[in-house]
Amino acid sequence: MLKLISINKSNWKTFQSKIIDSEKEFPKDIRAKRKDYLNVLSTKSCIFLAAMNDKKYVGTISGYKPTKIDMSEHRLKDYFHSNNFIYVYNYVVNRNYRGKGYGKILMKNLSQIALDKGYKTIVGHFRLNNSLNIINKVGNVRMLKYENWKNQRNGYLLCEVKLSRRAINKV
Ligand SMILES: CC(C)(COP(=O)(O)OP(=O)(O)OC[C@H]1O[C@@H](n2cnc3c(N)ncnc32)[C@H](O)[C@@H]1OP(=O)(O)O)[C@@H](O)C(=O)NCCC(=O)NCCS
Repeated sequence: MLKLISINKSNWKTFQSKIIDSEKEFPKDIRAKRKDYLNVLSTKSCIFLAAMNDKKYVGTISGYKPTKIDMSEHRLKDYFHSNNFIYVYNYVVNRNYRGKGYGKILMKNLSQIALDKGYKTIVGHFRLNNSLNIINKVGNVRMLKYENWKNQRNGYLLCEVKLSRRAINKV
């Protein structure tokens, strides 16, 4: 049975090897490191979930309210006047578990928690082929820019999702 666990600084060590390993899904120069995760975990706004199926690690999703430095680094300040949203930081389902709906469950739960915390939107750099399809299910997507984000050849689309409780409940 699928179980979602909220990751915090106290239980991070249990999951860190799986989560850092999942960064291999992304090109070397954009992979987040342990210290980057610890920074995210120390923010008050952090939403960080791990999915477990019968005690086996399935995947993770995390997001947080970007700092001013992040706003510049991710070039978000070109599009947003304030940082009052959750920036989706890491979102990966283990290859063995893909296509079974777990990615949707993770996105649904992150979106629900974001709404409960008072955020109306989530923002992220999404890939055209897969994650974009999923964020369309949790709200109204505004596509902002298709770009060569951090020099990645396979382009990323910067999107803002206006979360909809009705849409989230249907996932
Ligand atoms: C994106 C990711 C997390 C999706 O996880 P998942 O568990 O396979 O997704 P789900 O099974 O919940 O599928 C959700 C929906 O997306 C669709 N989808 C999943 N993978 C897809 C793909 N590669 N291409 C097109 N659609 C896809 C599914 O068909 C499903 O839609 P449906 O409900 O209309 O049938 C997973 O593919 C992954 O880890 N990818 C590598 C890392 C990555 O790209 N992360 C996102 C960074 S922006």
